[in-house]
Amino acid sequence: MTDQIDNMLIDNVLHETRVIEPPAEFAAKASIKRGEYERRYRQSLDDPETFWTEVAGQLTWTQPWTQVLDWQEPHARWFVDGQTNIAYNALDRQVELGRGDKRAFIWEGEDGEVRTFTYAELLRGVSKAANTLTDLGVQVGDRVTLYLPLIPEAAIAMLACARIGAVHSVVFGGFSVSALADRITDAQSKVLITADAGYRKGAPVPLKANADAAAELAPSLETMLVVRRAGVAVPMKEGRDVWWSEAVGQASDQHQAAPLDSEHPLFVLYTSGSTGKPKGVLHTTGGYMVSAFLTMQTAFDLKEDDVFWCTADVGWVTGHSYTVYGPLLCGATAVMYEGAPNHPDWGRFWSVIEKHKINILYTAPTAIRSFMRQGDDYPNRYDLSSLRLLGSVGEPINPEAWMWYHRVIGGERCPVIDTWWQTETGTIMLTTLPGAFPAKPGSAGLPMFGIEPAILTRDGHELGPDEGGLLVIKRPWPSMLRTVYGDDERYRKTYWGEIPHVYFAGDGARKDADGYITVMGRVDDVLNVSGHRLGTMEIESVLVAHPSISEAAVVGRPDEVKGECVVAFVTPQSGMECDPAAIRAFITKEIGALARPEAIIVADALPKTRSGKIMRRFLRQIAAGKEIQGDTSTLEDPSVLERLQAAEVL
Ligand code: WTA
Repeated sequence: MTDQIDNMLIDNVLHETRVIEPPAEFAAKASIKRGEYERRYRQSLDDPETFWTEVAGQLTWTQPWTQVLDWQEPHARWFVDGQTNIAYNALDRQVELGRGDKRAFIWEGEDGEVRTFTYAELLRGVSKAANTLTDLGVQVGDRVTLYLPLIPEAAIAMLACARIGAVHSVVFGGFSVSALADRITDAQSKVLITADAGYRKGAPVPLKANADAAAELAPSLETMLVVRRAGVAVPMKEGRDVWWSEAVGQASDQHQAAPLDSEHPLFVLYTSGSTGKPKGVLHTTGGYMVSAFLTMQTAFDLKEDDVFWCTADVGWVTGHSYTVYGPLLCGATAVMYEGAPNHPDWGRFWSVIEKHKINILYTAPTAIRSFMRQGDDYPNRYDLSSLRLLGSVGEPINPEAWMWYHRVIGGERCPVIDTWWQTETGTIMLTTLPGAFPAKPGSAGLPMFGIEPAILTRDGHELGPDEGGLLVIKRPWPSMLRTVYGDDERYRKTYWGEIPHVYFAGDGARKDADGYITVMGRVDDVLNVSGHRLGTMEIESVLVAHPSISEAAVVGRPDEVKGECVVAFVTPQSGMECDPAAIRAFITKEIGALARPEAIIVADALPKTRSGKIMRRFLRQIAAGKEIQGDTSTLEDPSVLERLQAAEVL
């Protein structure tokens, strides 16, 4: 694993020395200045009881907690015995605070349609959906799978689940039939909420058709609630399928949120790990709510009238925490945009910002790099002066993209925060508070409150400044995952078993003399393609299921736009030919377009040790077109490397 640390794509980051002070006007108005951060950060570590009591106390609990944290490594219980409801805090509480007529959501469809919901309207909509789910037999603790486009109903369905104590499991709409079926089965969901179709670049994406096919493979499924989004004709199965508009339309808009234990499961979200099977990361109610609230407020220096746009789909954790829960818990106005960033052209994001007068934009480096490639003309055509702060998430941001974002989108007036976190961490873990400290492009920077990171060697020794090592977190935090759904052993091993007594994130990082942490990338067999996690083993197991393929190994290759792209090395079954188009289509069908290999290299053998282990280190070098470096003598047949280097890339 550690050999990958040397291989990471960090050359440009390592030599980065620029320091960008917060713009004076922003800093003057910032809620948290340097001294305040330092005081509260110290308190959060030295006296977590007081710190978290104060933060959690800003939210509504129907029963107070008796203990802030009960830590029986590796299991944490936060706000023990407390009872609350996150949907209540996101909606009813805002109405009680006088925000009933304030806009909660502004949604823009790819086709230009705009729908807005005030807090009072959203509360009624969510209440109707909650009553519908109860009518359909959904009970506290039941899992409900969502497979939806980025439409308001996605957020409404999540909040409706949370309201009644059902556990939502959102599956990204770009995932395939079998990926959906596996996730429904793993969660044992009885109810699936989907839509007739979504839109992507003007074309309908056949969600209902995929859901129908998945239902055949997922025996737990009993009911399908179908949102009409695109108006395309879809078959409705008698006794199983229900139109959302009919069921929700008839339901009462009065609903009382269920008081739930702080540790009641809130959602499962599947993410790739270093084995073939995606993990169902489980988050619970109280701790997740408190962290989403705190990070939203502080990392984004949120002000009452801010219009906040997180571009992430709800199929990813960023969409959970900062498209839906975070902004609503803080009573902000959140923007949701359904479609592609380049539809009808590369000016779309900037037009959304201009139209809705967005103050804070939170997006991914891969998007920033794509925009940067299109030049400054697109953004320059729009009025972006409403922007106050910019955020980045999902993968390391290269300093050039950071500078472009800061200069062209932010007009050098908006600080850029680079936020490091994971599906497992639930909320932002590292970021440099925008009004308190200077930013260092390429470095996520300092820890959030209550987060104690360290850079360790494989055997647990803390490293000095600028030494590359493994990023760990030394104590639990409220929005930490509680387990891997249905597989606690995997939870223990993956997160708390790699290095004793610390949470191991799976990333490599280094810390500079000022304490800024630069995250360099994954050190396990997980790729980050356009900010999305893909397990190499997951792709390999699909590849070897293709009739033409005997063996497969997948590695990442640095990519200017995607950060990393998938390169597949395959050996054919004897007497068969590997057809790259068929292989790509197969991957798209089995996993989704995200996992499609950029390059396929067909060879008669893969580089293996005498014990049969594939040496991916060499494959990464070949994929990147580099010289072979390292000791090849452990290979059973070193000549394989030359043949691979000479092989045609398909
Ligand atoms: C990577 C997304 C560098 C990292 C919120 C992590 C980052 C994985 C950053 C989690 C960042 C995320 N700088 N790397 N600012 N943000 N990553 O679960 O490798 O989809 O482990 O969560 O993305 O991806 P996930």
